[in-house]
Amino acid sequence: MDLLLLEKALIGLFIAMVLAIAISKLRGKRFKLPPGPLPVPIFGNWLQVGDDLNHRNLTELANKFGDIFMLRMGQRSLVVVSSPELAKEVLHTQGVEFGSRTRNVVFDIFTGKGQDMVFTVYGEHWRKMRRIMTVPFFTNKVVQQYRQGWEDEAASVVEDVKKNPESATTGVVLRQRLQLMMYNNMYRIMFDRRFESEDDPLFLKLRALNGERSRLAQSFDYNYGDFIPILRPFLRGYLKTCKEVKETRLKLFKDYFVDERKKLANTKKTTNEGLKCAIDHMLDAQQKGEINEDNLLYIVENINVAAIETTLWSIEWGIAELVNHPEIQRKLRNELDTVLGPGVQITEPDAIKLPYLQAVIKETLRLRMAIPLLVPHMNLHNAKLGGYDIPAESKILVNAWWLANNPANWKNPEEFRPERFLEEESKVEANGNDFRYLPFGVGRRSCPGIILALPILAITIGRLVQNFELLPPPGHSKLDTTEKGGQFSLHILKHSTIVAKPRVF
Ligand code: HEM
Repeated sequence: MDLLLLEKALIGLFIAMVLAIAISKLRGKRFKLPPGPLPVPIFGNWLQVGDDLNHRNLTELANKFGDIFMLRMGQRSLVVVSSPELAKEVLHTQGVEFGSRTRNVVFDIFTGKGQDMVFTVYGEHWRKMRRIMTVPFFTNKVVQQYRQGWEDEAASVVEDVKKNPESATTGVVLRQRLQLMMYNNMYRIMFDRRFESEDDPLFLKLRALNGERSRLAQSFDYNYGDFIPILRPFLRGYLKTCKEVKETRLKLFKDYFVDERKKLANTKKTTNEGLKCAIDHMLDAQQKGEINEDNLLYIVENINVAAIETTLWSIEWGIAELVNHPEIQRKLRNELDTVLGPGVQITEPDAIKLPYLQAVIKETLRLRMAIPLLVPHMNLHNAKLGGYDIPAESKILVNAWWLANNPANWKNPEEFRPERFLEEESKVEANGNDFRYLPFGVGRRSCPGIILALPILAITIGRLVQNFELLPPPGHSKLDTTEKGGQFSLHILKHSTIVAKPRVF
């Protein structure tokens, strides 16, 4: 069977090679493509540039080929944009043309071929999904409905860390407890649910399935089948695993959360609008026929991948930078003590009175941008960008990390210095008011979760710094902040052990 496949693949490769040469000759005549390394038939630039196209490797290529360059990854075109002007063109001026998302065989499985919102193409379906998600998730009313819940979750993190005798001596991996907190913050909004402890079996199952989903979708292991479609039959085993994970995961969302909520709604009908959680709004939309049950489950899937880890990575980076910069940590603690009073716990409305805390968060999101290349964009049709022709269905990466870390645009960008956002960059906000700084993107496909992420970051980082002195573990003067870049993400390679010494007020 495998021999037959191999034979088919070799014939296919030959045909693809002849076609690729013919097409590239034709294209060369008609199109003015962006610069880039010279592609070879079939593989394009894949063998030259490798799999790991993280923000730093792409920055190196931009330094060589310019602010817009193109790579051919097998049959796929990848265009990388690395200047604020071109980012504005992609995200704002030509936001419709470049407002779609790329798809591939693996994402097609996890999103039911674009029945979701995050990974779907720009159009009627996306608009409807984004509209339906706005009221339950992305308004200030939601922040006000849940902020006390987030404050309680942060308080319970503080309590648990204090209870653990290791916290103040050898240290603990704070991330683990913060992960439970982030699940609780989001599951409260979605389902009015929370998990009691890190050992809760349902939480463990959910976390494992979400982890597996991210690993499978972000892996480079399926590139060959994506870049060279003729090799796709060899992906059968991989795709089978993806399908199993997807089905088990959606079934878990349905059986344990959606159906549970339906049952509850049937037994005690809630008339108070204020008590509705997101799933109630979405079930209303389903009842009105605006979405079907699959769409609803894919919304739950999207929130699980878009909201929890991104915010957690940012918290983790923020804490690591504060441990490694004790003078900044002290200055932040001092602001909290002075503005709120020692021991008075920060709440969501306080954030506006705490400019240094906001600057620390902005600086974390600048230097350690959680999604450094944004979520890949795509043009459905042939387009023009920076004077070049962009073939239809190209993957467009905006190197947002480089925009925010390019020494041509920022003073000593490699330094963690929150003061820059109170001094020379005081007008720059995280909402995309400056195309050099786009931690949440900007425009049509920008992150709607910014309205939740910023207060959650402020409450969590604020409470930890108020209540603890955060230090590296004994025998270390600094935490290891080596980065790990995935296809979408920039996170810390090793989850740090941190000593958290409780403060006495
Ligand atoms: C610090 C935390 C977060 C960061 C840094 C972040 C960043 C981003 C970025 C860069 C994008 C892509 C923008 C683009 O492609 O142009 C995005 C998209 C998205 N984010 Fe976030 N995000 C965060 C938290 C959240 C939260 C808490 C939620 C939901 C509750 C959320 C929901 C989404 C959704 C639904 C999209 C897709 C929007 C679309 O395609 O139309 N994010 N986010």
